[in-house]
Amino acid sequence: RDVYIAGAAGETPDVPPSYEKLREAAREEMTDKAYGYVEGGAGEEDTARENREAFRRWRIVPNLMNDVSERALSTTVLGDELDVPFVLAPVGVLSIVHEGAETAVARASSSLDVPFVLSTVSSHTIEEVAEEANDSAEGDAPPRWFQLYPSTDEALNRSLLHRAEEAGYTGVVVTVDTPLLGWRERDIENAYLPFLDAEGLANYFNDPVFRGSLDDTPEENEFAAIRHFIDIFSDASFTPETLAGTVDSTDLPVVVKGLLTPEDAIAAIDAGAEGVVVSNHGGRQVDGATGALDALPRVAEALKDETVLFDSGVRRGADALKALALGADAVMLGRPYVYGLGLAGEDGVREVVKNLRADIDLTLGLTGRTSVEEVDSSLVRESPRYR
Ligand code: FNR
Repeated sequence: RDVYIAGAAGETPDVPPSYEKLREAAREEMTDKAYGYVEGGAGEEDTARENREAFRRWRIVPNLMNDVSERALSTTVLGDELDVPFVLAPVGVLSIVHEGAETAVARASSSLDVPFVLSTVSSHTIEEVAEEANDSAEGDAPPRWFQLYPSTDEALNRSLLHRAEEAGYTGVVVTVDTPLLGWRERDIENAYLPFLDAEGLANYFNDPVFRGSLDDTPEENEFAAIRHFIDIFSDASFTPETLAGTVDSTDLPVVVKGLLTPEDAIAAIDAGAEGVVVSNHGGRQVDGATGALDALPRVAEALKDETVLFDSGVRRGADALKALALGADAVMLGRPYVYGLGLAGEDGVREVVKNLRADIDLTLGLTGRTSVEEVDSSLVRESPRYR
């Protein structure tokens, strides 16, 4: 309602409500390399496109003449009630997008009461980001989770998880789709690897374990630090047994992110995870992979009692509703909020999420539903055009 009232008063929004226009406006504010890093996918970016195609294949079938004057967007995720079914996805090295980076995202998250997930490869430390989130919350800060790229260095994993617990993070997201980094042609062409920048990677380069395992400090010997980081960044030998060890090493609930099959989802739950994020990393890892939305129904079918989140390609309210209809409890937002950050910092993140919130609320009501809980597979059909 506020969005329309502002429109009636002749106020044009600073942050375009259209995702495509938002992306173009943000692009103007970003360096070409940073834009390439955010927008890019693996290989020919077939999966990044397929993520959007998958949304087009599933069509909403509204029911009308229901009383939709009162609507509720709340949902439950890992035992926490959320006001809206959105979580801000983990996105690394946000300092390349905007100087406020993860601290701006944390402030927006608190003021909106929408949880965020802090990436392992963030440009502010776990503790700094937590402090910003607490300082800008009116009452209790919303849930915040820490995303772990499991390292081959177990002491480093334990140290990061311990720091997250101490700093009040309420969950851990273990990303399993990155045992190796995908073939990202834009970044290779641009010789752009922001996640190897010692200044940009606060969590690694400030962790006592990481520092302790080097002869010299990163300032004294940045190259050695970077080489060491490449050696330990990701555990290519990661298995469900490794995951079980990670689950045991923290008191926080663990959600496994980046899987696309019911078999992997069950393996994650058997290893002690409390939920999963169906995701193909926004098409940045396996080029040619299935659209994430197409993978969701079978995973949701297999995990009836656990938390199922979804990301990869959510751009508008209708997309979020489709994912909820196909079994997600909430969706993670990725590139949309990153472009909001690029365009207008903390305010930009806030505006993007507010627009999506207004959009999903209207679309929910227009489909004849009054609550997110009520949204099920009866809301969508696969388009006959694609059969
Ligand atoms: C990501 N993503 C990601 N995931 C993760 O677990 N840890 C990370 O550090 C990052 N970093 C990252 C950087 C950038 C620039 C992007 C675009 C994405 C993946 C992210 O959490 C999410 O899965 C995708 O962004 C979802 O796809 P869409 O909706 O952005 O297309």
